Amino acid sequence: MYFKDNKKEDRLSSQLKNNLKKRKQQKNLRSNMMSDTEITPNKQEHNKQEILKITGNQKFNGTITLSGAKNAALPIIIASILSNQDLTLNNVPNLADIETILAILKDLNVSVVKTSNNSYILNASKINKLICNEELVSKMRASFLVVGALLTKYKEAQIHMPGGCSIGSRPIDLHLEGLKAMGATIEVLPDSIKATAKDGLKGCDFTFSKVSVGATEHLIMAAVLATGKTVLRNCAIEPEITDLITCLNKMGAKITGQGTNKISIQGVKELQKATHTVILDRIEAGSYALAAAITKGSITLVDFPYELLDSFFDSLIKSGAIVEKKGKDVFIQGSKIIHPVDIQTKEYPGFPTDLQAQWITYICLANGKSELEETIFENRFLHVDHLNNMGANITIKSKQHCIIEGVSNFTGANVIATDLRASFALIMAAIVANGVTTISNLTHLDRGYENPIQKFQSCNILIERTKDY
Ligand code: UD1
Repeated sequence: MYFKDNKKEDRLSSQLKNNLKKRKQQKNLRSNMMSDTEITPNKQEHNKQEILKITGNQKFNGTITLSGAKNAALPIIIASILSNQDLTLNNVPNLADIETILAILKDLNVSVVKTSNNSYILNASKINKLICNEELVSKMRASFLVVGALLTKYKEAQIHMPGGCSIGSRPIDLHLEGLKAMGATIEVLPDSIKATAKDGLKGCDFTFSKVSVGATEHLIMAAVLATGKTVLRNCAIEPEITDLITCLNKMGAKITGQGTNKISIQGVKELQKATHTVILDRIEAGSYALAAAITKGSITLVDFPYELLDSFFDSLIKSGAIVEKKGKDVFIQGSKIIHPVDIQTKEYPGFPTDLQAQWITYICLANGKSELEETIFENRFLHVDHLNNMGANITIKSKQHCIIEGVSNFTGANVIATDLRASFALIMAAIVANGVTTISNLTHLDRGYENPIQKFQSCNILIERTKDY
């Protein structure tokens, strides 16, 4: 947390640091007892027993119909809080993270009706609580966005520190600085944050000191019901943010500048009934594209807008793969020889950090040396040890820089999935490896990939999900 302006803020800053330290200690204690704090004991018991068993040397060939984007669905579900009318959402993926955010909303007394496999009607007219459930919010960082939505509608909100994947320090200073610029008072309590705005939030001109997806989404939502006009500068421009804005505008918000780094929001008094279909998951698209390419197989991504992954596709082409638009679809054919390619992860439209682990896995099989610089997160190389255990030759040069020397193939091993995208990366290594691989700790995979076993199976890849006796 970086409070820069006055003594009070310095006190808040050190108070929060102490609280965070305490929380970390408590979390470590709990981790020692539970091994993973991001899941409920029951679900963990269940998942702890399950592993993926994969025999290698398989070839991926087929067509994938992608799911709705988790990272678009999460803030859009939270946006339902802003309205007293029904928000109907289609193409919401069935994922553990979605269950978590819906449970957080239900706990606040939002009505959640599942009308079909991927559709919901949400109604937040009867919210009766402004404190978010601690256990639920500790599972997922994106839950923090509930604060801005509650605060702008009800002038108060309290939340425990949010959780999420262990991929480096992920502060919330930008979120809080923005809410304060809109007139909120932020109180740092032991283990939680309370935000109040007695007279309601007020429009302001705010420049993010760093580009953040979550903070951009958070302040857009907070500004929708604020008094007057808000101008947000240096915003993130990820397609999931544009999807959130499209949905909010359908609900009656007045937001312009979507897709640019300056977003203007004219506050409105209330929102209306609306229906929205969540965009496709570009990270899922890139993940399966790499799974196909690593086996030198092919994939058709149905109805996928090429431009959502422009920079990723450029890198894939540089590595030797064929990537072609075919009507509304994108076709990818892996190359017999993978050429080394250096990558720097970047904010959109750059190479997505959420495809970094999968990319490293792919480029492990290149005929030469590649470098990767992770510029978004501080600690996102947790998968490297496991890939090295499977025969990769990756050297971590610093927290955010690694060198990948190409090897001829992976060797099957027993590995543990450390975070969401790393889970998919290990599956990629396993389907092409010599021998059998088992992957444990499947809770992360369940957070972010809808029906992965079935999707792989439809492309000729057999993966067994089984109990680990
Ligand atoms: C979102 C995505 C996540 C993706 C990430 C970057 C969701 C639910 N998650 O996460 O999958 O990997 O964008 O594309 O959409 N930061 C600060 N202060 C803040 C907020 C962020 O310093 O207040 C830093 C973070 O530590 C990180 C960088 O900014 O280094 C980017 O984080 P951010 O864009 O906020 O990621 P999330 O919204 O958490």
